[in-house]
Amino acid sequence: MQILNLDTYSIFVGDIWKNLQQFLSEKNYSHTFILVDENTMECCLPIFFEKIKNTNSEIIIIPPGEINKTLDTCQHIWSELMRMNADRKSLLINLGGGVIGDMGGFCASTYKRGIDFIQIPTTLLSQVDSSIGGKLGIDFDNVKNSIGVFQNPQAVFIDPIFFDTLPIEEIRSGMAEMLKHGLIQNAAHWEELLKIENLEEVDWEKYIPTSLKVKQHIVEEDPFEKNIRKALNFGHTIGHAVETLFLETETPLRHGEAIAIGMMCEAFLSFKKAGLPENEFQLIFDFFQKKYPQVHLPKEDFPTLINWMRKDKKNENDAINFTMLKGIGEMLINQTCEEKEIIETLEFYNNHTKI
Ligand SMILES: NC(=O)c1ccc[n+]([C@@H]2O[C@H](COP(=O)([O-])OP(=O)(O)OC[C@H]3O[C@@H](n4cnc5c(N)ncnc54)[C@H](O)[C@@H]3O)[C@@H](O)[C@H]2O)c1
Ligand SMILES: [Zn+2]
Repeated sequence: MQILNLDTYSIFVGDIWKNLQQFLSEKNYSHTFILVDENTMECCLPIFFEKIKNTNSEIIIIPPGEINKTLDTCQHIWSELMRMNADRKSLLINLGGGVIGDMGGFCASTYKRGIDFIQIPTTLLSQVDSSIGGKLGIDFDNVKNSIGVFQNPQAVFIDPIFFDTLPIEEIRSGMAEMLKHGLIQNAAHWEELLKIENLEEVDWEKYIPTSLKVKQHIVEEDPFEKNIRKALNFGHTIGHAVETLFLETETPLRHGEAIAIGMMCEAFLSFKKAGLPENEFQLIFDFFQKKYPQVHLPKEDFPTLINWMRKDKKNENDAINFTMLKGIGEMLINQTCEEKEIIETLEFYNNHTKI
């Protein structure tokens, strides 16, 4: 078990259950609610009940997936809390992936002007990324995460035990964010992750704290994303646009899969513009190409892709904002590109990836 102490809360990683039991006993909440989706109800809730006794919890169930990260689902969660008489001394436990964590945290932070919540993330992505940093919210008008708040949980409890039921594609997707953490700030972490051969046999407890620390340090320095937090956006300017392009198709990409493609493209931009050495660029590009699903980006969609990049929340003054790499483990924020450079990048990607 490892404990990371942040400014106002702690993250427990490993065999979390004694600490969780202790947290629940000490806090003595009036009511405890557990938010799950249909999958985590089936796969994760039984583990929770096996490990934690006498919680007297009420369960709130929602349908799974990003498509349900909406105001309608929030209404359902708030109504359930009302119906079951949640008062301001209640606790909401978010047991699930990033969708549950983001939306449950948002609902808790707004219900009666805010009740306590804790995160028990059950996907790799939510364990290394979305469960820390205080960003909560939902999608609105088809724009991802466009309504939300910054608010920290009371604690985060991370146990890789939940990965036993998680599809390997979800693991791979989450690992893209860990690789990103290595690329932007910890070359040793990147190298360690490159050595992993079989995703089904990883001792995750060994890698998760290192990855979390990268995010923790960045977020603590800049909680409201005014400057350095943009570092976490590496791979995301192009990655988000690619994710959106494939969202409505028959072959949507998982977030981490889209970000992997984004990192390939943005590593190319970094090589062209930010001094990333060619051999390091090649290593990054070849790794993601080999380990992650690849797509063809149709030329006629380039303007749409660039349009989405322009709409990214992290932009200022109309310029398209990128985080680039100066080297593996060293990033530069607030880099901008001309449209023709982005087109050249997308063409490079298409011409050099094997599908
Ligand atoms: N707040 C942030 O800083 C931040 C950062 C990154 C991503 N996010 C958000 O996170 C979300 C993506 O998170 P995600 O990838 O965890 O998605 P998710 O919550 O949709 O989970 C993926 C799928 O796995 C299922 N699942 C979860 N745990 C399982 C388990 N242990 N066994 C079997 N199935 C399981 C879920 O039901 C779902 O179908 C997005 O909405 C994204 O916007 C937020
Ligand atoms: Zn991401």
